[in-house]
Amino acid sequence: MCGIVGTIRVEGSVVKGLIEGLRVLEYRGYDSSGIAVARNGAVELEKRAGRLARLEEALADGHLEGARAGIGHTRWATHGAPTDANAHPHTGSDDRLAIVHNGIFENWLELKHELEGEGVRFSSDTDTEVLAHLVERRRAEGDDLPSAVRASLARIRGYYAVAVLSTGANGPELVCARQGPPLAICTTDEGAYLASDVLGLLPYSRDIVFLRDGDVAELTPGAVRITTKSGAPVERAPERFEADSEAVSKGDFEHFMLKEIHEQPEVIARTTVDRIRADAGDFVFEGGAFDDDFARSIARVQIIACGTALHAGWIARYMIEGLAGIPVDVDFASEFRYRNPRLVPDTVALAISQSGETADTLAAVRLARELGASTAAICNMASSTQVREADQVVLTHAGPEVGVASTKAFVAQVVAAYTIAVRLGRARGTIDRERGQVLIAELEALRAQVQTLLAERVTGRVLEVARRYHEAKGFMFLGRGINFPVALEGALKLKEISYMHAEGYPAGEMKHGPIALIEPGMIVVAVSSRGPLAEKVRANIEQVKARGGVVVSVGSDAGSHAISDMSIEVPETSEWLSPILNTVPLQLLAYDIAHLRGCDIDKPRNLAKSVTVE
Ligand code: AGP
Repeated sequence: MCGIVGTIRVEGSVVKGLIEGLRVLEYRGYDSSGIAVARNGAVELEKRAGRLARLEEALADGHLEGARAGIGHTRWATHGAPTDANAHPHTGSDDRLAIVHNGIFENWLELKHELEGEGVRFSSDTDTEVLAHLVERRRAEGDDLPSAVRASLARIRGYYAVAVLSTGANGPELVCARQGPPLAICTTDEGAYLASDVLGLLPYSRDIVFLRDGDVAELTPGAVRITTKSGAPVERAPERFEADSEAVSKGDFEHFMLKEIHEQPEVIARTTVDRIRADAGDFVFEGGAFDDDFARSIARVQIIACGTALHAGWIARYMIEGLAGIPVDVDFASEFRYRNPRLVPDTVALAISQSGETADTLAAVRLARELGASTAAICNMASSTQVREADQVVLTHAGPEVGVASTKAFVAQVVAAYTIAVRLGRARGTIDRERGQVLIAELEALRAQVQTLLAERVTGRVLEVARRYHEAKGFMFLGRGINFPVALEGALKLKEISYMHAEGYPAGEMKHGPIALIEPGMIVVAVSSRGPLAEKVRANIEQVKARGGVVVSVGSDAGSHAISDMSIEVPETSEWLSPILNTVPLQLLAYDIAHLRGCDIDKPRNLAKSVTVE
């Protein structure tokens, strides 16, 4: 999704800070970028389609230097192709105002026609430009900037994070507003700063104010005035954001994704260590989440998520049903919200989300709440909307995940789901203390087991597989039971960073159609853990081999490895935790294949890190 930054300083030039802020937000995915600055009574801007480097080239002669206020934007195109003209910022009819926007103005076309009917001429195909003209019109009628922004946004239907830069007799002014996509601000004695992602503010402060839906904020150096959309003053206390700047550096790794894969043992520890109650064979969560009373009140769990987080949700279903005996449904957030769902009383809607700002997941959980469900969230961003709106919260402590392809956040989500499933089982009596202690011990062993998968012996083997098959026609990932979602996740990882065709399927389903795809160039990755389903997966492997297909087995089942063309051995663990160990080699395989294919691993084409629009 789009990245927004803005700065208003006491003195000095803002161009360098704006570009640095946009570079931190690059990981969110974009296809054009631009900045606008206010100086000498006018707003001046530069914007370019393509990578940030093209914008930096356009600014290299320093012609925008010296301005003490400015806004910047990385655009992920929704309305209008990624061209220089459609890049943000957008201005009105004169050069006194510029805006940047993340989100969608749903009624933009009717407003555009209204404005064109009044003689306004548009210079882009974007919905965003409508707001620039509305604010400009209100300014011409005498409104101050905050009032003009509030009045203009009152005409807008949709959701947005916007920043508006204006200049006039009193010098530069900077206002921002939020309805949906996140927006955060901070202040220092030198200035005031805004960004769509807290990572863009860390160079200035860790005391962050997270705007709420409806907030309109006026930023001046050292001070911020926030009102509701109706203009009533409102206080928003700063929150201390502890992540260090190390979180946004690649360290010694070539890509954030590889660094984050290697962070996973530490992430498992951070997400569990303070919650383990070994003596009781139980877990406890901050804020009393999933306490005994709540755990015993649940009749059904409705898991709602998107993408990789949904795959974690599928795994969570096996865990919660298998360990706690509670019925669980899982649905795509984008489907749940429009299928007129029916929920039984005492349902808890469990959102799983790394960012906590995914529009479809937020909307689906709000619908579930309207239908009477209580809500819970497994989320990686404590300051997110998803967390703020949930009744029960279990945070993952994966740290900021910069790689667009989710890895450590996924593992943290699955680990969190495991701890919740055990907690629910202990509260409802399906797990006794002794078994709880065993389940905890198996979790505590996981960190070292993941570490072994990141050692040369395994990573070297994965690279051999990647070297042999990185030019294949396509991949089919197969898994059974709790490892069926691992097949989905392995396919998604490969798709999103290597752009190869890959699909995940329940192994038992292959003979109902997909087996027609089997031919020498189609590589089948069979996820197979030792256990009651192993011989079923072996049979599927034989079916593929009998048709000339190539099989790579991943897991702890030696029998599967013995009949496959290549294999990646995974340590044995419990059924419940096997998805985590089986996923790590698939993350590495996707990474190695994408690397061999020369793809942009951390910023894959067309993708955004947090999909804050529908
Ligand atoms: C995962 O690799 C993708 N980047 C994407 O599927 C992501 O998991 C999905 O958009 C959900 O995001 P969230 O976890 O922030 O809600």
